[in-house]
Amino acid sequence: MKIQLASSYGFCFGVKRAIEIAEEHRGAVTYGPLIHNKDEIDRLKNGFNIGLARKLDDIQEKDTVVIRTHGIPKDELKQLKVQDTKIIDATCPYVTTPQHIVAKMSSEGYSVVIFGDEEHPEIKGVVSYAENPEDAFIVLTSEELEDLPLKAKVAVVSQTTKKPEDFAKIVTELMKSRKEVRVFNTICNATFENQDAAADLAKEADVMIVIGGKHSSNTKQLHSICQRYCDDSYLIENESELQPEWFDGKKLCGISAGASTPDWIVQNVIEKIEEMVK
Ligand code: F3S
Repeated sequence: MKIQLASSYGFCFGVKRAIEIAEEHRGAVTYGPLIHNKDEIDRLKNGFNIGLARKLDDIQEKDTVVIRTHGIPKDELKQLKVQDTKIIDATCPYVTTPQHIVAKMSSEGYSVVIFGDEEHPEIKGVVSYAENPEDAFIVLTSEELEDLPLKAKVAVVSQTTKKPEDFAKIVTELMKSRKEVRVFNTICNATFENQDAAADLAKEADVMIVIGGKHSSNTKQLHSICQRYCDDSYLIENESELQPEWFDGKKLCGISAGASTPDWIVQNVIEKIEEMVK
């Protein structure tokens, strides 16, 4: 059986940058998991003594606090600043962009629509930047727009990991009822690149392995794209979850990995598959 990696996979620019920042600050704590990958978080803990504070109360005075790629709500950042902590901001620049857009458009009197998951840390952060919180709305479907008390002028942004076609549905719906719709395409290209490459490979492969955190929306989306083209598509966090029967009678095994998956995990998976099909 041949094993082939997607032409684009794994760590995106924002995650690489956040990990480098953390590695440069040995002994720091991250506020929330730095990325959605437990194995990489363990590596940072064991190799660089990087701790994890799940809530503000877990942060001690004089801690060096690394802000994760998804960013954090504005008021939490303020609270951290009043504590005697050193703040190192590893928020991905592609996430700070929608934060700034929301702040600006809200201050200019626009209703702000944010297309995303309200429970996602990135979205909790982005919405917190609205100057007028009562005029900022998080939606996941165009149907949810129906009952919102939106002004005639609306600005719309998207969670970085969402699909453009789904974002377009929200925009189209807004166009039907609002006089002015300012659309900011805040979807991240890194997501498209990995997705397109995974789809191309899944069309050819008879088994697809997608490696990444089970809570990572980016990895879950990669998996669902692969399932569209390849029935035998599996999502795993690391090589321990591989099952030998997945590869029985297969000719081409495709591999893709989410934006929070380090290369060393991808290599471990490939080695384990090679052993299994020997
Ligand atoms: Fe940033 Fe895009 Fe990665 S938003 S964290 S470069 S997936």
